[in-house]
Amino acid sequence: MILSVIAVLASYLLGSVSFSVVIAKGIKGIDIRQHGSGNAGATNTLRVLGKGPAILVLTLDVLKGIAAVWIGRWLGDGSVWVPALCGIAVIVGHNWPVYFRFRGGKGIASTIGVMASLFFFPALYAGIIAILSIVFTRYVSLGSLLFVLLTPIFLVFIEGVGPYFWVSLLICLFAIWRHRTNIVKIAQGRENKLGSKGGSNV
Ligand code: G3P
Repeated sequence: MILSVIAVLASYLLGSVSFSVVIAKGIKGIDIRQHGSGNAGATNTLRVLGKGPAILVLTLDVLKGIAAVWIGRWLGDGSVWVPALCGIAVIVGHNWPVYFRFRGGKGIASTIGVMASLFFFPALYAGIIAILSIVFTRYVSLGSLLFVLLTPIFLVFIEGVGPYFWVSLLICLFAIWRHRTNIVKIAQGRENKLGSKGGSNV
């Protein structure tokens, strides 16, 4: 039991390492949360710092999600719940990081790592549709939302309603909450498109 609690806490602390904040500070000496959309994530890193740093942030944030699930598998009691709780904890850490005054990102890259580790095929199918939607609309936020909404649906079709379904639903709710401003902007036709520099929210 104590090891499971340590695993969940470690996952939260790992999630709190906000790579976009660290890398933007390291490369340009800026707080990414004061630029572009103000989000501490890969999309905003692309907007503010360009492709290389964005790919680095995306990779590290996805790996963070994968690592948390593996910490849960390693230290857990063998049940599905410890890796799942570690997955939730790493996303919570990313969104509300203890090291950065609880102002983090929207959790999608970490969610990709978590969902692909816990339920690979539902995440893969949802991911393909999400990528296609980004290619056609150039709205990363729309693709992110499609990914978190479709994964639980594919999960039900593939595995039925089990613990992972409820976990995916909770993660989906986090993402919708964190994208509430994006949702309003999509509805109003004011959302930033991939590749466009404008539309600062800060
Ligand atoms: O994962 C974040 C993405 O969906 C939206 O980011 O910076 O455009 O709000 P941003």
